[in-house]
Amino acid sequence: MHIHPRYLAPMALSAFVIACTPERAAPSAPSQTQYDTEALVAQAQDVVERFQTALKTELVSAMQAGGPQHAVSVCEAQAPKIAQGIEAETGWRVQRVALKTRNPANQPTDTQRVVLEQFDQALRTGVGASIPHHSFVTDKRWVYMRPISTQGVCLTCHGQNVDADLLANIQSHYPDDLATGFAEGDLRGAFVISAPLDTISLPADTP
Ligand code: HEC
Repeated sequence: MHIHPRYLAPMALSAFVIACTPERAAPSAPSQTQYDTEALVAQAQDVVERFQTALKTELVSAMQAGGPQHAVSVCEAQAPKIAQGIEAETGWRVQRVALKTRNPANQPTDTQRVVLEQFDQALRTGVGASIPHHSFVTDKRWVYMRPISTQGVCLTCHGQNVDADLLANIQSHYPDDLATGFAEGDLRGAFVISAPLDTISLPADTP
């Protein structure tokens, strides 16, 4: 991964601040791992764009080809494959998590849950035109999160009035489904993009 020759300190885990611009951390102790938060955020944002575009393209073409019933099966089969493909190409792990999940595999960790709750709050109170995001370090990984908001097209399968037959189909694939009842603009979940710290750190002698 390309890293600019500049160093910013790791974000402390306690610094759960939602930033609308890349974070600037305080200078770190010399022994700490060094990396360039700004450059990493830019990379992670690119990865999110790819993931989001691939998912949406797949969803829209499945809906057009066979309607929402068909799209449920396509989503089930393709969402994990798309994530794996991007991971293989870019080296970044890509996931989607949510407070209310359809697939229980997408449940957040405790740390991710705190960030999701903050995103939820931010979307409710209105964040203007800027998209909040957050980055932090946990388990020796650098992690970037960005909210996924609910759009009109999502309501067919995640909304308040999901067609009864469609809902039955969804529940047969996902017996623990919690991901309905959303309105346009609600927080639906978040993208989580992460990489091990040792793959993104700057060399020790970086000026
Ligand atoms: C055709 C029905 C359908 C539509 C439309 C749809 N989804 Fe989903 N969604 C699903 C299914 C099925 C899953 C479970 C995928 C899996 O197994 O990983 C899912 C999972 C998700 C997840 C992962 C978290 C979880 O709950 O498991 C997010 C986030 C999500 N959808 C957001 C959206 C957004 C945003 C839109 C609109 C752009 C949307 N969905 C439109 C069916 C749909």
